[in-house]
Amino acid sequence: MADDLIAAVGSLAQVEAHPLARSAKRLDAADRVVLPGFVDSHTHLIHAASRADEYELRITGATYEEIAKRGGGILNSVNKLRAATSDALKQRALAALQQFAACGTTTIEAKSGYGLDLASELKILKLHKELSTEQPLDIVSTFLGAHVIPAEFRSRPSGVKDYLSLLIDKLLPEIAAQKLAEFCDVFCERDAFNLAQSKQILEAGKRHGLRPRIHAEQLSRTGATQLAIKLGAASCDHLEKINRADIRALAKSKTVATLLPGCDFHLGLQQYAPARDLIDAGAIIALATDYNPGTSPTVSMPMILSLACTQLRMTPAEAITAATINSAYSLGRDKQFGSLEIGKRADISIFDVDDYREIPYYFGMNTCHTTIKRGQIVYSKSSLSAA
Ligand code: NIG
Ligand code: FE
Repeated sequence: MADDLIAAVGSLAQVEAHPLARSAKRLDAADRVVLPGFVDSHTHLIHAASRADEYELRITGATYEEIAKRGGGILNSVNKLRAATSDALKQRALAALQQFAACGTTTIEAKSGYGLDLASELKILKLHKELSTEQPLDIVSTFLGAHVIPAEFRSRPSGVKDYLSLLIDKLLPEIAAQKLAEFCDVFCERDAFNLAQSKQILEAGKRHGLRPRIHAEQLSRTGATQLAIKLGAASCDHLEKINRADIRALAKSKTVATLLPGCDFHLGLQQYAPARDLIDAGAIIALATDYNPGTSPTVSMPMILSLACTQLRMTPAEAITAATINSAYSLGRDKQFGSLEIGKRADISIFDVDDYREIPYYFGMNTCHTTIKRGQIVYSKSSLSAA
């Protein structure tokens, strides 16, 4: 590699023939499997605390939506985030980022959405920016002010309208002016934002140069997928409840179908997204953790690959493709990284397995041995011999 880019790929002889080979530092991956670093294209990185109490409530019978109706769920995390200092949030995120790297992830997307007021949303988005310069992983920032209607707006008759105008007239212009986000997301769901409201927010985001992404058809079918496609969204995510027409529309579009099987697993839901139908129809599939305290508290892309293979019936090769180049594409960065090709960034993960299929096969285990970001080792279980 030269600077932080891949300079040559191929057999030992081909790589050694490169003019830069003499001065290069050698790392021997031995018989291990070498992949492009994982690109985790859907996370809610910044949050203040776990929701293990709700986890137990669900195990004993309450549903995710029932807990949310009682003021738990996303609002629980909003209360905790508003009370937390920026420094406490940063320390928690830094610890998570180290774990992402230890699982072979080299880039993440991160959404705001546990602040839901001007100061708290800006606090989150500024942390995305700070963290992306202060630690090695790339962080792609998304504004998710439209996560749910915050509690203080719920009691007023014009609360929904007032919150939409806060988002559209205050937050979006401020975020765009400060260049704090690249994408705008909406949780389009029966207890969050409806289709018309989602359209209004995403169109406003577009006017400010923020490309749409959307949480679509997770718990109920709202029509969000087809809206996303019409708006030229980069991605629509979840998709457990999509129908045949949605699958056909996705197959014809460039909008990526991002599947998040960690949510169904953690919530104990039986209906996973129809990955096979989507792939067979020709849709572009990405996989991500959806790292968040409510529905998917994991940073492990290897675990997501295991779920993709056993629950979504994706082959290991399809799952790895979805977790690397396709997720890079959904972030508009497939030309920069997501595959091991000349000119791409040297974001590389090395796994202690004999066969790439063993990465998902060993479920719940982390076989990642070394993670390299922009040509530098950022995580290693033991040093690689300089053969
Ligand atoms: O992707 N659905 C909205 N956002 C998250 C859940 C957030 C939460 O429960 O805190 C998701 O599943
Ligand atoms: Fe999410």
